[in-house]
Amino acid sequence: MRFNVLTIFPKIFKIFDHGVISKAIDKNFIIECYDIRKNAINKHGQIDAKPFGGGEGMVMMPEPLKKTLIDIPKNERGHIVYLSPQGKQLNQDKVIELSLMKNITLVCGRYEGVDQRFIDKYVDEEISIGDFVMSGGEYPAVCLIDAVVRNLPGTIGNSDSIENDSFYKGLLKGPVYTRPKIFDDINVPETLLSGNHAEIKEWKESKSFIQTYLRRPDLINNVKLTKKQKKLLEELASKDIL
Ligand SMILES: C[S@@+](CC[C@H](N)C(=O)[O-])C[C@H]1O[C@@H](n2cnc3c(N)ncnc32)[C@H](O)[C@@H]1O
Repeated sequence: MRFNVLTIFPKIFKIFDHGVISKAIDKNFIIECYDIRKNAINKHGQIDAKPFGGGEGMVMMPEPLKKTLIDIPKNERGHIVYLSPQGKQLNQDKVIELSLMKNITLVCGRYEGVDQRFIDKYVDEEISIGDFVMSGGEYPAVCLIDAVVRNLPGTIGNSDSIENDSFYKGLLKGPVYTRPKIFDDINVPETLLSGNHAEIKEWKESKSFIQTYLRRPDLINNVKLTKKQKKLLEELASKDIL
């Protein structure tokens, strides 16, 4: 899989030199940054200008963006995404959808954003990472790439760990524990130390369900409940936990 990134700060993507994603570079994915400033309109490196009609800040001009996009070989551009707070919010379904693509080009905005004509003509999709505004599209792009690459086969050694992650089956993952068995007088739940795999599995499933019920009840509406989960839901509702 190839990610092309249009940015004025290519060095931000050095972050992928670290952690589990760094091991997937060249093996599972390639990331190529294209510096928008190389296509500035003058020798001062100008890529932005004041908004027509007035208003605050500066807007990224369409020409440097277009030229930078054209620097990418046509057959490598693929799906063109503009990271934008005005886009559709990224979620696990979208991450999986993107992970099936071969080429993705990410456009990172700065300042007050990107001239609308560039978006209208060249962008396939606008994606937001949440209902808040960041100062640039680079960190949202980093989030998106990390989440997508995690799902490429072979990135995470044990594919079970992805399948048991929050959101993969629509629910949150439950709590996890490690050594020591007693920490600040708090014991690890007994079932986890029992060695009984069936009981442990059931414990994890029910904790995942309870965690979701308490923290993100909205997610439960989108999941086809098993008989066990229906029963658990009735029990939780009758206890009036919320
Ligand atoms: C300061 S923001 C511009 C925000 C714009 N003035 C608005 O109110 O919609 C600059 C750039 O950061 C990126 N950005 C900011 N928040 C984002 C978010 N929640 N998701 C994705 N990209 C975001 C976009 O690329 C945007 O062009």
